[in-house]
Amino acid sequence: MGRLSGECRVKSRFGPAALVTGASDGIGRAFAEALAAQGFDLVLVARRETVLQALARDLADRHGVTVDVIAGDLSAPGTVADILERTARTPVGLLVASAGFGSIGPFLSQDAASEASMVDVNCRSVVELTHGLVTRMARTGEGGVVLLSSISAFSGAPYSSTYTATKGFVQCFAEGIAIELRPLGISVLAVAPGPVSSGFAARAGMLAGRAETPETVARVALAALQRGGTVRPGILAKLLGWMLVVLPRWGRVRIMAQIKKGEIAKAKA
Ligand SMILES: NC(=O)c1ccc[n+]([C@@H]2O[C@H](COP(=O)([O-])OP(=O)(O)OC[C@H]3O[C@@H](n4cnc5c(N)ncnc54)[C@H](OP(=O)(O)O)[C@@H]3O)[C@@H](O)[C@H]2O)c1
Repeated sequence: MGRLSGECRVKSRFGPAALVTGASDGIGRAFAEALAAQGFDLVLVARRETVLQALARDLADRHGVTVDVIAGDLSAPGTVADILERTARTPVGLLVASAGFGSIGPFLSQDAASEASMVDVNCRSVVELTHGLVTRMARTGEGGVVLLSSISAFSGAPYSSTYTATKGFVQCFAEGIAIELRPLGISVLAVAPGPVSSGFAARAGMLAGRAETPETVARVALAALQRGGTVRPGILAKLLGWMLVVLPRWGRVRIMAQIKKGEIAKAKA
């Protein structure tokens, strides 16, 4: 009963529609599932159109919601402008910006174009999309923004330097706009998970170890959306957060270097 009434409040405050990036997989897909189950109409964004279309049909059939698909590459200039144009008449009260990717290994062994593209997807598109959709939400005096930070957003991490910097950017961005937008009726939540069992690790060339499920991340985040701030879903994220917070910044970077070196060694073994 308590959970159901909480879900009704989420829909009535942040509905009727939510836009989810990265909806074709992992955490974004879990958000799409959870929001459809709560009766949200959806706009799903990612590159793989056939995957999105199949998900859209499935969610519409099972939950009786309206689901639109916008296939696009968020690293490309103009994609966010296209999304904003195509959703101009859709009452989007909630943005979940989950699209993102990472890399691991020495910085100089990474492809420079791919690292720059990571900044475009993980940071630039998040700023553009948030600005565009929040401008509309501010007119109605209600709305929500969920941004995917990471447990690794709180210090530099050698051997994953660009990725952790993008997540540090998202975390700082979320903390800043949360204060600015609260008086406008808009709640901003930074979600900082530890490892999550999605395709993310494999795509980044990392080894997947013990991890939370994408469904846990989505459930915990949606429960925290009303209050906003930062949420660390799952015990692993909380433990890692507490362990690192007691260290000075230079100490955290050195611990992260050891963790990342260990991940690289395990992936090679
Ligand atoms: N998994 C973890 O361990 C973990 C931990 C902390 C934080 N996070 C953060 O959580 C978010 C989601 O991660 P995840 O675990 O769900 O990863 P995932 O399973 O790899 O899914 C990533 C999603 O982003 C989309 N995407 C990637 N590049 C894109 C691009 N250029 N344009 C449009 N969409 C793009 C992918 O769809 P297409 O391939 O169809 O485009 C996919 O839907 C990321 O921001 C990540 O940094 C993940």
